Amino acid sequence: MDVENIFHMKGGHDETSYSRNSSLQKKASDMVKHITLEAIQEVYMRTTPEILAMADLGCSSGLNSLSMIKDLYQAVEDAYRTTLINGPKSSTMKTQAKLSSVSVYLNDLPTNDFNSIFRALPEFFDEEKRGHLRPSLFVAASPGSFYDPIFPPNFLHFIYSSYSLHWLSKIPAGIYDENGKSMNKGCIYICERSPQTIIRAYAQQFREDFSRFLRLRSQELTPGGSMVLVFLGREGLDHIDRGNSFLWELLARSFTILISKGEIEEEKLNSYDVHFYAPSQEEIEEEVGKEGSFKLVHLEKFQIEREKGNNGISYGVAVASTVRAIQESMISHHFGQHILNSLFDTYAHLVDEEMSKQEIRPITCLLVLNKI
Ligand SMILES: C[S@@+](CC[C@H](N)C(=O)[O-])C[C@H]1O[C@@H](n2cnc3c(N)ncnc32)[C@H](O)[C@@H]1O
Repeated sequence: MDVENIFHMKGGHDETSYSRNSSLQKKASDMVKHITLEAIQEVYMRTTPEILAMADLGCSSGLNSLSMIKDLYQAVEDAYRTTLINGPKSSTMKTQAKLSSVSVYLNDLPTNDFNSIFRALPEFFDEEKRGHLRPSLFVAASPGSFYDPIFPPNFLHFIYSSYSLHWLSKIPAGIYDENGKSMNKGCIYICERSPQTIIRAYAQQFREDFSRFLRLRSQELTPGGSMVLVFLGREGLDHIDRGNSFLWELLARSFTILISKGEIEEEKLNSYDVHFYAPSQEEIEEEVGKEGSFKLVHLEKFQIEREKGNNGISYGVAVASTVRAIQESMISHHFGQHILNSLFDTYAHLVDEEMSKQEIRPITCLLVLNKI
């Protein structure tokens, strides 16, 4: 499947859109926001540019990106004011810093609904009193895959990416046999029944993609630049856990239930796989070390606390709406749109049923990487 041209979060603002179903991602990135803001302040102090350029990679179409940009801008402004008060002698600066502007580049795949995010800009700027902002704030889009070059060399000071890097550049070629058929029958990601070949293929695709991502970004960052990356991962060496892999397993079970009801054909499930990978801490550290362009200054693994009450909806329904907003484009392309309601109702039910037995706790990783 040509994921770059098919995969996109559900655009717009209707009930099933990403913008209305991405509060779990916001909650998680907010949990580690203090680390993100500290990282951009350190970058500012180290580089004291006249124009600070930053990018949000995989910004999507919801308001999570603009909300984080607002906080990042504020953090840079605070750092700038501190340098003005303390004067040049207090840091490595030789002359007084002068920050005239902050430029923000929003990146995502060209299939992303950039219009939705840009439509929200007037309100965002109004609230921020655009004309009076000092430093000025500029927002632009830079569509393209983050597995390809996106910016000129030495262009950015800071890169942020949240809940995007667990998406691989493609479904790993190694999961298909010589006839082009998936060898991961009945599963859509690494599952207990997956043969070792499948695990190796996914791990290899992650290594290639992540290492390419690091190399490209190191070229685009200025000396002294940093990245904060937040993405899904796993706890230990085992790929099977009661976190991200279990959520995919439950989605696979939901498809199986639809097969038993005659709503989809078994062959359709056998030929569906996701371009996702949840790396372990060891895999991340190994790739950063091998690639060699960045120093990993911080790695943290955390879990989102389950909301009590959750606006009257169950955890299963909240997870199903989130996954639907993310996966709808791929699933409807492969199975047809008609199965969506039935599939995600079943999925919500399975998640709730499993949660009543034992918690499901997806792991998120946060990385702070300084360019060497
Ligand atoms: C779950 S959304 C996260 C959006 C937002 N950062 C947030 O935290 O709510 C993941 C985004 O990553 C984007 N994405 C996935 N692979 C990408 C790639 N190779 N290049 C650029 N964006 C990508 C998707 O299109 C999607 O919009």
